[in-house]
Amino acid sequence: GSCAVVIVAAGSGQRLGYGVPKARVPLGADPMLVHAVRGVLKAKVAAQICVAIPAQDAQLVDICQQLSNEAQAAGVLFSVVDGGAQRSESVYAALAHIATGITTVMIHDAARPLTPSGVFNRVAAALRDGAKAVIPALAVVDTIKTVIPATLPATGAGVEQVVGTPARSQLRAVQTPQGFELETLRRAYAHALTLDDQTAAQITDDAMLVEALGEQVFVVQGSTHSLKITSPTDLLLAEAMLEGPLR
Ligand code: C5P
Repeated sequence: GSCAVVIVAAGSGQRLGYGVPKARVPLGADPMLVHAVRGVLKAKVAAQICVAIPAQDAQLVDICQQLSNEAQAAGVLFSVVDGGAQRSESVYAALAHIATGITTVMIHDAARPLTPSGVFNRVAAALRDGAKAVIPALAVVDTIKTVIPATLPATGAGVEQVVGTPARSQLRAVQTPQGFELETLRRAYAHALTLDDQTAAQITDDAMLVEALGEQVFVVQGSTHSLKITSPTDLLLAEAMLEGPLR
């Protein structure tokens, strides 16, 4: 079946501190969104690319016009939609614009602009092999704790305390693109639609909605190059990756 790639690029990028939407923040010579879209084109996995951008961002509209030309030259349908206040709302908006005949979809963060073709190809291969949901992930290097709010005995100072340590060997750090049978993801989002804003803010990836349906979610190998650019340090690392030696 044919595959659409949704690129969510409607975040504010507040944590990066650039004062512009993250998708427009330059990485090397080009805005992050340009790298993200070219990465999808290079992987040759998409019949359609659908980008969710902040509503009324004229500069991103212009950037998308240029990207639309590049996509068309590669025979890929290119669509742009207004994103929402939450990532999940941006995904939902994009799902309404998937073309007829598309049977699988990958949801990808514009904030992971250097994702290698190999990751897209592993996700696509799992979908071809019958997975209804598949996510790229890496083993975690840090020990991860579960915490709750707490106070120090002598002062009552607000801190946190540990309530658990999940076995690190079973933990994975999850990336995008996350691949789905389109019908399954639509069903998952039909559920999510009913959630209030606070609950919606806790939807940090798409697979968790499919898990809630009881569907099996498969895992393939991610990449350190798929890092999510969130802080200025991440941007520095991505610039270094772009330069070459780390590539
Ligand atoms: O905020 P976070 O780092 O989780 O964002 C991940 C991706 O989701 C980014 O590419 C961002 O542009 C996108 N996003 C979105 N709409 C929002 C919030 C985030 O498309 N309202």
